[in-house]
Amino acid sequence: MVRRYDPSVPVAADVLERVLDAGLKVPSAGFTQGVSLLVLQRPDVERYWTLTTDPTAEPDRWLVGMRTAPVLVLVWTAPGAYLDRYAEPDKGWTDRDPARWTAPYWHVDAGMAVLAMLYAAVDEGLGACFFGVPPDRMAAIASAYGVPDGQELVGVVSLGTPVTRPGRSRRERRSPDELVHRGQWRATSHPIS
Ligand SMILES: Cc1cc2nc3c(=O)[nH]c(=O)nc-3n(C[C@H](O)[C@H](O)[C@H](O)COP(=O)(O)O)c2cc1C
Repeated sequence: MVRRYDPSVPVAADVLERVLDAGLKVPSAGFTQGVSLLVLQRPDVERYWTLTTDPTAEPDRWLVGMRTAPVLVLVWTAPGAYLDRYAEPDKGWTDRDPARWTAPYWHVDAGMAVLAMLYAAVDEGLGACFFGVPPDRMAAIASAYGVPDGQELVGVVSLGTPVTRPGRSRRERRSPDELVHRGQWRATSHPIS
């Protein structure tokens, strides 16, 4: 994840299109394709930060860095589109009961789109970061950009030319032995709870 960009280098239009295309060419549950992307470029990105930050507070290091991103891709998903798709005859979940879902595929699919864009960005020589949005700002964002009812904001992908190497997470990477269980779930010294 890259959290500081060169603000003087825009993302070329063809590069951006390829990154967005990667986000669309992903698997989706029932091929619902219920994930949509709202693309903000300068000067529109500034409005996003105005909508999500407190103008009276001193910006922290994270915000100072992220505000340099020339492109923000807001990732939206439509749970109703999945409930509709799975109510079709080949799926048959006509009661549209969310309890049927082992995991909400509308969020799973958004994660697929995000990861594809992150990989595509790296392939294009860009830096990128996925980050969450303050929940209490979501309604204001939807209203500001004319997003219709039924769309949920999952998060944002920032894109740009990195000025820092991706920093290592302060947390240690867990070893495969802790996370991969073969044949039988085996107790480890640091169980994930
Ligand atoms: C679901 C999800 C939410 C995340 N939210 C944020 C966020 O709000 N802000 C941020 O700076 N990074 C966010 N990240 C990035 C993680 O902090 C990062 O992937 C992790 O620390 C590992 O670092 P690396 O991806 O650079 O190896 C998020 C990642 C995921 C998958």
